[in-house]
Amino acid sequence: MRRRAFLISAAATASVWMIGPALAAGRVMVVYKDPNCGCCHEWAAAMKGAGFQVKIENVDDLSAIKQRHAIPDEMQGCHTAVVGGYYVEGHVPLDAVERLLAERPDIAGIAVPGMPVGSLGMGDDPRASYDVFAVNRDGTSAIYQSVRPKG
Ligand code: CU
Ligand code: CU
Repeated sequence: MRRRAFLISAAATASVWMIGPALAAGRVMVVYKDPNCGCCHEWAAAMKGAGFQVKIENVDDLSAIKQRHAIPDEMQGCHTAVVGGYYVEGHVPLDAVERLLAERPDIAGIAVPGMPVGSLGMGDDPRASYDVFAVNRDGTSAIYQSVRPKG
């Protein structure tokens, strides 16, 4: 038990050390969310935990934000984040955000429409099953990543 806890913290330390250079480059993320939404808060907290400099913008009219970024209706989730020139819409998992920023594809953003049960901020359950979409500037979209139950 003890040893396992040690190994986990050692692994965590190693991964923090590896993302050091990215942190130095400044990973600023703005999260537009409803002030009363708990799941948005959970998602933003997870991004903060991953080393993003999260700036929370509580807004009453989120639809105006989604309109400004031209996020298609069928791609919309509860909160909208902006990072590295992309929008990250809804309960997008951390690895998809990291992949987006590492690969920098020529798209407008990525999205998890709706609020899938078990997604990041919605329980973060390893049994969750949902898709992350890549959204092009013309509003068309394609599956970017599929999240399926682990193990
Ligand atoms: Cu939500
Ligand atoms: Cu929410």
